[in-house]
Parts: sequence; C-alpha cells; structure tokens
Amino acid sequence: MQIESADLCPFGSLRGRPVTQIRLTDGPCSAEILTYGAALRSLTVPDPTGKPVDLVLGFDTVEDYVNQDCYIGAIVGPVANRIGGAACLVNGRALALDPNEAPNCLHSGLAGFDKAIWTVESASDRAVTLSHVHPDGLGGIPGDLRVSVTYTLAGRCLRIDYRAVSDRDTICNPTNHSYFNLNGHESGSVEGHSVCIHAARFTPADAAGIPTGEILPVARTPMDLRQPKPLRAGLSAEYAQLRLARGYDRNWAPDGAGFRRIAAVCGDRSGIRMTVWTDRPGVQFYTGNFLPAPLPGKSGAVYGPRAGLCLETQAFPDAPNHAGFPSIALKAGEIWTSRTEYRFDAAE
Ligand code: BGC
Repeated sequence: MQIESADLCPFGSLRGRPVTQIRLTDGPCSAEILTYGAALRSLTVPDPTGKPVDLVLGFDTVEDYVNQDCYIGAIVGPVANRIGGAACLVNGRALALDPNEAPNCLHSGLAGFDKAIWTVESASDRAVTLSHVHPDGLGGIPGDLRVSVTYTLAGRCLRIDYRAVSDRDTICNPTNHSYFNLNGHESGSVEGHSVCIHAARFTPADAAGIPTGEILPVARTPMDLRQPKPLRAGLSAEYAQLRLARGYDRNWAPDGAGFRRIAAVCGDRSGIRMTVWTDRPGVQFYTGNFLPAPLPGKSGAVYGPRAGLCLETQAFPDAPNHAGFPSIALKAGEIWTSRTEYRFDAAE
C-alpha cells in the first residue's frame, strides 16, 4: 500500500473488519470515500458565492450503510442494474444469478461490490485507489474478477477510473450509485433541479424495469431531455415509462461515442451545475423514486423519495439478453477500463 500525505481515518467496523474513510482535498473541494462499497460518502464544492455545499447523500455509520438497500454512493457491480429472470448466457453457458428482486437480479444481488470492504491500494491527498476481488461464482458470476476504482479530485472535478480483469470469460458492467442533490444533500427534493441528457434515444422497460430490447427515440416524449428541463415538468407527465417507475428510472443512450459530455444538472437554489462525462454507452437516470421515507442520513439530514438523483454511467441494463445492446462480455485476461467524471461549475 502506498500512502503519501493521505487523510485516512477509521469509520467503523463490520464483522470485526475495520472500515476506513479516505478524505481527498483539492482547494475548496473535498470528497470522502469509504472502503465499504468503495462508496462516495460526501462531495463538497463551493457554490457561486463560495459557500461549501455537500452534494451527495450519505450516512454517518457503517450500520446505516449496511441497513439500507438503495446503494447510496456505492460502486455497484460486477453488473449494474437488472438482468431479467436473473439468467443469461456467457459463451453459451447459462448463468444463474442471484434473484434478489425476484425473479430478476438487481445490481448483482446480495453479494455485489457495494457490500464488500475494499482494500486501499494507494492514497494521496487528491486520489485513492481501492481494489476488490469478486470471487469465482459469487452471485452466479464466473471468474475471479479483480477490480479497482480510483477516485481523483482534480479541481472541481471528481473522476472515477475503473479497471477490471477476470481469469474466466465473464460479464462486467460496474457503476457508481451516488445520489446527487445540487442544492445540498440535506435540502429535500430535487424536483426543482433542471436536467439535460444529451441523448436522442433511450431503452424502454417493462413494469419490473427489464428492458424490452427496443432503443427508441426520445423525441415527442417526456424522455426528451436534450434541452435543460425542470424535473418537476417531466415527472408530472402522463407517460407509461414514467408511471411504471414512479418517476425517471430508465437507461438513456447518449449521443456519440468515446469520452464525451452526456448530461448536465443544475441546482435551482444553489446555482451549482454538474456536468457528467463518460466513455460508457449508457446512463441510468434515476430520480430516487424508491428511497424510503423517512431515511435518516448524515449530520441529522432526513432523506426520502427524490432527495437525490442518480446518473449511473453504464452499459445498457440486461445487455446479455439483447443482441442489439452493446456487449458487456469480458474475456479472460482482458483488461477492461472506463472513466466517468462529474464536473462542477456555476449554472449559466
Ligand atoms: C435502479 C432503480 C433501483 C435503484 C436502487 C437504480 O439503478 O434503476 O430501479 O430502485 O437503482 O436503489
């Protein structure tokens, strides 16, 4: 482990194992990351007047993290989102995944990356690399999957770099499941935020959130967020894809390929804007529809439905079961990497 001038402190323990918090700082910005779930626990940036605002939901104790099932701040994987029937094929071999949202598998079941205590590989004042081995067969996923995630704070940008390699052919599609509230994590509903997703197409899904396999145009639907739109306007629309999920909870296919800007969100009260950049083909835009109420959060905050929104960069949900979706297959020995950035500035 390489630790230079890093700020590490005990956060608690789980089944006798310590959980550590790593604090990154760059100028007026800071981030706190936990070894439990490699979760982003806080992300503080100044608003246009210079006042620090913590933009992500989080908790004060390990127990609070363990006792929720909303994946708050965590790295989710090996395969984010849903696999229909908790079943798919890898090289023609049927996998039986964990049907934790029966009959489907959500976020890799009950033993995914979010439940693991990750190892600190290296840490400095601006970056931390955490690693984890997801053992062969756990949750039905083949191969010892060695994964690492590096969080880097670079000015008003939080970068997340992923790296994974498996010793058997497998499937790999991790994400980060932070809930952002650009008015501040404790400020209530995000319905006043404006949202823009640079995507002409999205993947509709059934009542259980399993994609139909279509990739449909957003044009003339409330899924068209190509111009910034107040969330409240979209959320109140009579549209089956919104009603089925009690709000936004679908995968968009952002335009273009390679590392590009895919979304922008503005806090209506803070004047803070976040832009999202990634090399992934998809993004799950989720408006925290299923957050329970009341959900006690850090520093006395109380969360509930729509207390935060997620922009989970990913390949499309249920990809192995839809030939038309980009593949999430990972060959044995192949090194898979990916980058996502959340950048902050003042709303225009
Ligand atoms: C899913 C939601 C789910 C949530 C769990 C999101 O990625 O799309 O349907 O409820 O994760 O917190």
